[in-house]
Amino acid sequence: MPAVIIVGTQWGDEGKGKIVDYCSKQADFVVRYQGGTNAGHTIVLGEKVFKLRLVPSGVFYGNKVLIGSGVVVDPEILIKEINTLTTSGVDVDLIVSGKAHVTLPYHPILDGSWDKARGRGKIGTTKRGIGPTYTDKISRRGIRVHDLVNNTYEERVRWNVRLANKILQYVLEVDHRLDVKEILQQCSRWSTGLQRYVGNVSQTINDAIEAKRNVLFEGAQATFLDIDHGTYPFVTSSNPIAGGACVGVGVGPTKIDQVLGICKAYTTRVGKGPFPTELDDDIGIHLQEIGKEFGTVTGRPRRCGWLDLNMIRYASMINGLTSLALTKLDVLNGLERLRICVGYRWRGENITSLPIYDMGSCEPIYVEFEGWETLLDGGKLCSEAKAYIAKIEEETGLQIDYISTGPKRVDTICRRSVW
Ligand code: GDP
Ligand code: IMO
Ligand code: MG
Repeated sequence: MPAVIIVGTQWGDEGKGKIVDYCSKQADFVVRYQGGTNAGHTIVLGEKVFKLRLVPSGVFYGNKVLIGSGVVVDPEILIKEINTLTTSGVDVDLIVSGKAHVTLPYHPILDGSWDKARGRGKIGTTKRGIGPTYTDKISRRGIRVHDLVNNTYEERVRWNVRLANKILQYVLEVDHRLDVKEILQQCSRWSTGLQRYVGNVSQTINDAIEAKRNVLFEGAQATFLDIDHGTYPFVTSSNPIAGGACVGVGVGPTKIDQVLGICKAYTTRVGKGPFPTELDDDIGIHLQEIGKEFGTVTGRPRRCGWLDLNMIRYASMINGLTSLALTKLDVLNGLERLRICVGYRWRGENITSLPIYDMGSCEPIYVEFEGWETLLDGGKLCSEAKAYIAKIEEETGLQIDYISTGPKRVDTICRRSVW
């Protein structure tokens, strides 16, 4: 009856939503611990495709789902998401932490304007207001869900809107002006809309762990987008790593039993920043087209490249991974030869570690594999795929517990359950 963290090992979009949903069958509680509407977690159920931004991906098995204090909540999008799910016949049994910070209409505008002002140093954010919401939180001027539902936000919202307008006018020199009256009216609507969902997330999860119930912690983004341990400054503004689950829910590290790393069978990245194994050729285009590698939130094409095991070893260390789930293996179908990066050439040396400050100067060292046409033969993996998987296990020292061979639940091979 464990507490399991599910975390991205690369730059996001590894298929966390699919694996969280799959593992939720045996879960009792599923809790999101960081990020906001920059996340897009896709769950395919029959003909229906759900792209969740805030509601945890465990919602489809009727579990209690929770949003921890480490998440930044855009109330407009959360309320819409709950309505969409409910209309589709999904029961949403949700608790939102009163300690979670709220993304208000000035945050996305500041986000887009700041990123534009960076010019060539642009991060390529999702423009959902994530950075500015976390900035307000750390600067101790943010609005929390508790403030919103208790109507104790007006004075601070007025002050924040005045500040945002000054930044827009004098610092960023953009024409946009925010209307405080309109924002306060929206806050009042959201206050009513969210009231019934607010509760004590840390207490609920700690009680659940104490009662030996199955708890899943759902990460958004991924290790290399982590504000502390990722490819700074090309990162998000939260801690997607496993340690972030303890902070973002309010549980002690001694309560965690397993950390499952989600690893795509190749690598993708949205937005700017270094990417040693990036492919600018036909294979990159193959991965993008067959893998449908277009951003869930922004629709931007994702950059694609070979699997990089230096990254997975680093993710294993930073997160204390106990095993892996390998996703999108089917996307490699039809490629004649495959490559896995097992080391880097860096400053004249061959290394197997990851110089995080200088990832842009790393040249990948590859091993080559035979490709395959058909991944599965009578439900069994082909020998070429087995060799590819064995190399990942050998190089990372991690067992691959789950192999995902398509977007649906049935396209999953479970070799060992995290429960
Ligand atoms: P997340 O942000 O980590 O939850 O991942 P996204 O949902 O943004 O992106 C993963 C995409 O790959 C989604 O469209 C999934 O439906 C899809 N997907 C997940 N697992 C597999 C798989 O094994 N094979 C294929 N072909 N698609 C998958
Ligand atoms: P999921 O949970 C992939 C990227 C953005 C940008 C950087 C900072 O679906 O895996 P932000 O808006 O967070 O300030 O943008 O992080 N990014 C993601 N990339 N998947 C995500 O989430 C992402 N969330 C943010 O593209 O490069
Ligand atoms: Mg995604």
